[in-house]
Amino acid sequence: MVQDENNFATQRENFADENVRVELQDGIAWVYFNRPSKKNAMSPNLNRDMLAVLEALEADDRCKVLVLTGEGDAFSAGMDLKEYFRDIDENRYDEVMRIRRQATYWQWRKLMYYPKPTIAMVNGWCFGGGLTPMIACDLAIAADEAVFGLSEINWGIIPAGNVTKAVEALVGQRNALYYIMTGETFNGQRAAEIGLVNESVPLAQLAARTTELAKLLLGKNLHIVNAAKMAYKYSREMSWDTAEEYLFAKQQQAITTDPERGRSRGLTQFLDEKSYRPGLGSYRPGLGSYSRE
Ligand code: COA
Repeated sequence: MVQDENNFATQRENFADENVRVELQDGIAWVYFNRPSKKNAMSPNLNRDMLAVLEALEADDRCKVLVLTGEGDAFSAGMDLKEYFRDIDENRYDEVMRIRRQATYWQWRKLMYYPKPTIAMVNGWCFGGGLTPMIACDLAIAADEAVFGLSEINWGIIPAGNVTKAVEALVGQRNALYYIMTGETFNGQRAAEIGLVNESVPLAQLAARTTELAKLLLGKNLHIVNAAKMAYKYSREMSWDTAEEYLFAKQQQAITTDPERGRSRGLTQFLDEKSYRPGLGSYRPGLGSYSRE
């Protein structure tokens, strides 16, 4: 992959270290945890840099789909046991909480409601806090060889900082409690089996399969893809009546703000031009007539 230096370097010029690496290619932003010598453990500096990167990419048109992955043989070995835990034990409480919240902010709030499609590509070790951003991504593909674990129990803490809640969002109680209470590891295939990732493929095919999935999304109307994912994520937290009302309103908002006028094009191409079948694929963007809604 070619690294696009363009103006991304400028946007990050305030950051001296390289905890996060970004490659931009063909509409896909490949975002790497970049501390391979520490198995991509998340230090306070990495968390700060990741937040800056996500904010920069949010405003960067070259990023249409974001892939989060890790450099080397780890996705992320979780929070940095030295820099995120022991080194700040003696800090003032408010400073500790500032560091904690900066981590959870990008790992959950920012990624969960990121206004572009996100895919976690789990290339290797994925422990503890590493599960949170992986789960917050819209989709996830793991290598069969990846090793997951809720290892907190192994060193005397509970999976906090949203880890427990994130796992609970995807995995049923039996499996969640099994892995939380035993700290046993499991591989990519098992992660797919329990619904923690969409699928698992051999490591040698991981990048190709992730690219294929990203391209599938790139072929859709991304304005509507993003509205659809937001609608799903927000409505999960609502009552049925509130969700119904919200979804009608979200639908209206998505259609009227769609620069592509996809709904109108889609209806015209199916009903009048008979040029495609919505059940079997997308309408052709930019082609055919459409009316303003
Ligand atoms: N925090 C801080 N440092 C970490 C780390 C973490 N979460 N995970 C790995 N590292 C560091 C190691 O201390 C080591 O540093 P060193 O070279 O300065 O000694 C380096 O990364 C390589 O790790 P190492 O343990 O030698 O690699 P390994 O291939 O033998 O084992 C793991 C890989 C991931 C199984 C192992 O590093 C591990 O158990 N990490 C902790 C995972 C964890 O419990 N995370 C949950 C945090 S809540």
